[in-house]
Amino acid sequence: MAEEYQLYIDGEWVSTAEQIEVLNKYTQDTYAKVSKASETEVDQAVTAAEQAYKNNAMSPYERFEILKRVSELLVENKETLAQVITMEAGKPLKQARTEIERAALTFEVSAEEAKRIHGEGVPVEAAPGSENRMAFTIRVPVGVVGAISPFNFPMNLVAHKIGPAIASGNAVVLKPASKTPVSAIKLAELFHKAGLPKGFFNVVVGSGSTVGNQMMKDSRISLYTFTGSAEVGLKLKQETGMNKLILELGNNSPVIIDKEADVAAAAKNTAAKSFAFAGQVCISVQRLYVHEEVQEEFQQAFLEAIKDLKIGDPNDPETDVGPMIGEDEAKRAEEWIEEAKQAGAKILHGGTRKEALLQPTVLTDVTHDMKVVCEEVFAPVVTLIPFSDIKDCIEEVNQSPYGLQGGIFTQNIDTAFYAAKKVQVGGFMINDASQYRVDLMPYGGVKGSGWGKEGPKYSIEEMTEERLVVMNLNQ
Ligand code: SIN
Repeated sequence: MAEEYQLYIDGEWVSTAEQIEVLNKYTQDTYAKVSKASETEVDQAVTAAEQAYKNNAMSPYERFEILKRVSELLVENKETLAQVITMEAGKPLKQARTEIERAALTFEVSAEEAKRIHGEGVPVEAAPGSENRMAFTIRVPVGVVGAISPFNFPMNLVAHKIGPAIASGNAVVLKPASKTPVSAIKLAELFHKAGLPKGFFNVVVGSGSTVGNQMMKDSRISLYTFTGSAEVGLKLKQETGMNKLILELGNNSPVIIDKEADVAAAAKNTAAKSFAFAGQVCISVQRLYVHEEVQEEFQQAFLEAIKDLKIGDPNDPETDVGPMIGEDEAKRAEEWIEEAKQAGAKILHGGTRKEALLQPTVLTDVTHDMKVVCEEVFAPVVTLIPFSDIKDCIEEVNQSPYGLQGGIFTQNIDTAFYAAKKVQVGGFMINDASQYRVDLMPYGGVKGSGWGKEGPKYSIEEMTEERLVVMNLNQ
């Protein structure tokens, strides 16, 4: 029997006539039915958020207490919530458990940051004619934040939007991914329990083309925070005029295996980080540039490390690689693999699919124009690309339209720092794969990967305005 869920608007649970079916991504059975928002509910949610922000401001300490309590509730309910993620996203249980721990940390850090929002003194008297004045800045909330979150981290990427928004005194309207809305609704339950005043957090479920579009056009929303495709990110940018934006978009992460790398460690690390959550992570390793002097050794160790990965049922706590979010997505990735193969690529591992389960796939003999290299594959697919000169390699790396995170494995500090300076990304890892993120760090890309940063401290900067206050003491 499918579980039923409602929207959360103005502190109330709201049913609608139409429902969205949420599938168990492994069995494809209906796991839950969720009320679908119409124009009316989206409008009510924005109105509630605006009223909450204008009329019911919370002190930093109140915000701290609520966010801290949500963090504790996540820990207390870790197992049940992890199972929700596994059901609706098909994420292997052990990775879903980690996601809950991470979300708890995201809210804890947001709680702490709520107490540290401040401006600074401005020495205006240093300007001739400005004597006897005192000035300082304060940081004020932007107002209503419109959050649109993706399916791949249905709890923690919601936490990254809601935590900093509430911490900085804003009110939020969230549209979670329609394939994975239950995690966000569960979070609303925790906020309700933690005593968040009504209207500060509203959840409206529906498609991007209806709910998302309506949110985009609502001038009462002051800032949009979005994680998803580059295409939708660009649309948001074009349609929201002067609004502030935090955009976390596509990526095809590069990792360089230098000739002076610890090859065994690099192979083990990158094998795990190419296929976690079936490669559906924005910083998943996609392009492995391997120095030709260590190519054979690396390739062998990499393929060997893949054999240790357990593939299959995400409910099994031992599973490393489960299904993709849907069969259509898995078919699309399979087509890209086939296209590459037709153009001369060689499959070293995987390449086969059963429904939404695509085997970890390793390709070599690839060229830069193949989709598996130059676009975001967002699937358990990795390409091995040989190089002989680090400068040329980095030039090739930088041909990507994206730049979220990248990495290099090398024991040579000069090479490491040269790469860190030259690779065009928002975050660069030395002796680690691109897929490294802890939730307090700044996270965000350059070029087509978006702009603005996540990480509570950094999002709070985006979600507040700096206001100057000058006092004329001559009066
Ligand atoms: C993402 O896919 O952008 C999020 C990655 C993460 O939080 O680990």
